[in-house]
Amino acid sequence: MAGLSRAEVLKWLCTEDEEALCELRERADAERRRRVGDQVHLRGLIEISNHCVRSCHYCGLRGPNHGLKRYRLTREQVLQSARLALSLGYGTVVIQSGEDPGLTSDWVTELIETIRRQTRLAVTLSLGERSDEELAAWRYAGADRYLLRFETSRRDLYERIHPPLASTPSDRIRLLRRLRELGYEMGTGMMIGIPGQTLEDLTDDIMLLAELDPDMIGLGPFVPHPDTPLGKVVPVTSGQAPNSENMVLKVLALVRLVCPMSNIPATTALASIDPEGGYEAGLRWGANVIMPNVSPAEVRKFYQIYPGKVCVTETIEFHERLVRRIQEMGRSVGVGRGDSAAYLARQKGAV
Ligand code: 5AD
Repeated sequence: MAGLSRAEVLKWLCTEDEEALCELRERADAERRRRVGDQVHLRGLIEISNHCVRSCHYCGLRGPNHGLKRYRLTREQVLQSARLALSLGYGTVVIQSGEDPGLTSDWVTELIETIRRQTRLAVTLSLGERSDEELAAWRYAGADRYLLRFETSRRDLYERIHPPLASTPSDRIRLLRRLRELGYEMGTGMMIGIPGQTLEDLTDDIMLLAELDPDMIGLGPFVPHPDTPLGKVVPVTSGQAPNSENMVLKVLALVRLVCPMSNIPATTALASIDPEGGYEAGLRWGANVIMPNVSPAEVRKFYQIYPGKVCVTETIEFHERLVRRIQEMGRSVGVGRGDSAAYLARQKGAV
């Protein structure tokens, strides 16, 4: 099933008919199986710093949130987390942080080189909007992938919730194209149910994903954080897109249909609004990746992007339960690096 028109996407988003939605899920699940298979790839997420110079209106890490204790991992702590990911059989580490200039270009470069040399794990970076020079240096150092969500494709909404830094206007779409030119596997995505976001906006987000054809796509519900401007009173505008699990799953299925070869995680945010079944639901509606947290246990509670984040303490127990749950679904845990099928197909096309 190739492509969906804008009108079809919008119609699906408006549908509440249980039978129709069951059919949507089955179509997305079949497409997932056909294009990326039954393996669920696990990525070890390392949250290396919660310092952030930005003031995004939804995120608990925003600079002006003075109530949060800030930390930056040492090189040795990051390497220890990477070794933990390796010992659990993961093929990838995801190095994530707030937008933190304290993580200097050279420090990150050396870190990437060391992880690659010591573990051979694939390295995904998610360090925010960084300069073209840094992105090029890190790619050269051996980073394989980069995640940067566009959050919403609606320009005025984006600008309202992302105050720019004085020095540089924010243009994430330009950065995503740059990442692709540099040879990264490129990942992006959005939040679902941002105050002021409509189903039309979500339709545009999905159509933008179809156009960008990312190698990885992360999506999750907007979760209000009380210490942020969007976490206070949520004004209910008419046509507001819900930040519900059902809406996230619908979007997930549609995204699988328009970007069938992408790696798509069942995200922590989805699991956080449904701790019992969120991961499984994601995997049944089109997802093929999960990103378990391997950060040092003592810092996890400080990486509070939103409240109620799951897997704040455990690692081994969570891992074992996850493997069991994946197998009980008739799926298997991914082996190897789990490179994006979309990326590999593009590479092949290029030669
Ligand atoms: N609710 C849900 N997701 C959030 N993110 C940041 N803040 C929130 C929130 N309050 C997401 C953004 C960001 C990713 C790392 O976390 O989409 O890209």
